[in-house]
Parts: sequence; C-alpha cells; structure tokens
Amino acid sequence: MARSKISIIGGGNVGASCAMWAASKELGDITVLDIPQAEGMVKGKMLDLLECAPIERFDANVVGTADYADTADSDVVVVTAGMPRKPGMSRDDLIATNVQIVRTVAEQVAKYSPNCVMIVVSNPLDAMVYTAWKASGFPTSRILGQAGCLDVARFRCFIAMELGCSVEDIQALLLGGHGDDMVPLPRYTSVHGIPVTQLLPEETINACVERAKVGGGEIVKLMGTSAYYAPASGSIQMVEAIVKDKKRILPCAAWCDDQYGVGGGFVGVPCVLGAGGMEKVIEIDLDADEKKLMDESISHVKDLVDTVKTTFPDLA
Ligand code: LAC
Repeated sequence: MARSKISIIGGGNVGASCAMWAASKELGDITVLDIPQAEGMVKGKMLDLLECAPIERFDANVVGTADYADTADSDVVVVTAGMPRKPGMSRDDLIATNVQIVRTVAEQVAKYSPNCVMIVVSNPLDAMVYTAWKASGFPTSRILGQAGCLDVARFRCFIAMELGCSVEDIQALLLGGHGDDMVPLPRYTSVHGIPVTQLLPEETINACVERAKVGGGEIVKLMGTSAYYAPASGSIQMVEAIVKDKKRILPCAAWCDDQYGVGGGFVGVPCVLGAGGMEKVIEIDLDADEKKLMDESISHVKDLVDTVKTTFPDLA
C-alpha cells in the first residue's frame, strides 16, 4: 500500500511542529511548503527533521519546498500559513491579513490536490475555514478547522493537573468557535467514565474551563507569539484519524446545516473523521445554559464570517 501524502502549508512554528508529530507517528510522506523567500529555511528544517528518522524510527520522505507542484496529489493538506498573534492581539485582529493569505493558499491547494481533505489552522480559525472553503470550491466534507482538539487537550491537561491523574483518562468535549467564547462542557467531561463533577468541586472545574478558554492568550502573553506544539498536535490528531480512516469522534470546526441551529456555517462541533474527511456531525443535547453559550459563540463566528464577506465581496 502506498504511503499517504501529507502536505503542510506554512513552515513556521506550527507547520514545522506538525511535520514533526506526523513524522514521529509515521503517518506518511510529508511536504512542507513556505514562500520563496523562506525556501532555504523550510528546506533546511525538513532536512534536519528527516535526519532524525534513524533514531526516531520512521520511514517517510520529508521535504521542504516553495513550489506547490511538490504538494500535488496530497491526501491531506494542513494550512498553517498566516500571521500569528502578538501580545495584546485577539485572534480576530488577524482577519484582514490572514484572509488574503489563506485564500491564495486554498486556491493553490485545490489546484494541485483537488481530492485532498484540507485542515485549516490559521486564525481567526472559524473565518479562515470559511475562506478556504470558498476559495477552494471543495465540498464541505473536505474542509475542516482545527481548534477543538487543541482546546479540549488544554482542558484535559488542566483537569488532570487538578486530579493528579493521567491525562489519558480524561474525556472531554467542547463546542463553538475558537475564541474566548468557546463552550467547554463540564457535564460531558468524565474521568475514565466517572463524571468529573463527582471528583472536583464546581469552582475548580470552572477555573479549568476559564483557563482553557484563554489558553491561547496565556501562552501568547508568556512567549510573545502563538502556541505551536499543542496546535500542531491537535492538527495531527485529525490527520491521523483521516489517513487511517479511524472514524474518530473529534471536536472540529465543521460544516453544520441545521445541526445546533447553525443554518449553514463552520462551527466547532463533535464529528466523525475518516478517509472522507468530515463524515458526520454528532448532535448532542444541550441544556438551556449550554445552548445560550453555544448560540452566542455561533453568533460571534457569523459576525466574523460577515466581516470576511463585506471586506472581500468575491468570497461572499
Ligand atoms: C491558540 C492559537 C493557536 O489557541 O489559536 O494557541
């Protein structure tokens, strides 16, 4: 069986970390593309990564390039290109710059890998997923955004730190956009099947929820730029589900018709990921408070998408 081909657009911190996780999990051959001005940098980084193969024990071609032709016929393409946040910036402040970058990237990806599943990581995430969808002309099943895997991973870390137990035993779920109004769901959080509400007091759980919501900002404040190990890890969790056709249920920015009352749009929801990309949105019951938070988050995502549409009418 031929190896899967995974391309990553953007060879910065997130892109390079994606390549590292994908190589270490031996998910397929990896091509990382950056702009011509950064060709030497991306070629050097990927050669450096390839030279880990004998020690880390992966067989994969790992290459850097500035030529989209080298990404041709990818099975999965992860789009990390775009400006990262600086301290004091919200994800939304990046919209004008990153729409233009993501639009150009999505057009090229669609041209060279017309059958791939595209995973967008650039911020503001939900608006960039919409942009990539419009610019690529792809069916909604083959456009996804990575945010939920990261946000849930952060939440699971914080809960495990409080309990002093293995992160592996924490199951959690989170809905909504990738912003500070994301919707973590303590009611759907369990520790090896035990509801977390039986193990931790409400205020401790709420503190974990709040920390997860601003988890990206916490890191920007500390190091002056966006996080990259965990965003990349979340992205490769999705890539793995797709290239291995695992049918995993993961929280992703995915197209919702009537689910969750979205009425057509990309929002963070649990969905089934397999070889076809997003194979199914899973709709769960929400109580009145959760529904209110979800509605607010959806409305924020819609405002962001409206900004894209009014600023760039060709993407409307
Ligand atoms: C974060 C950025 C990547 O949450 O959105 O760290």
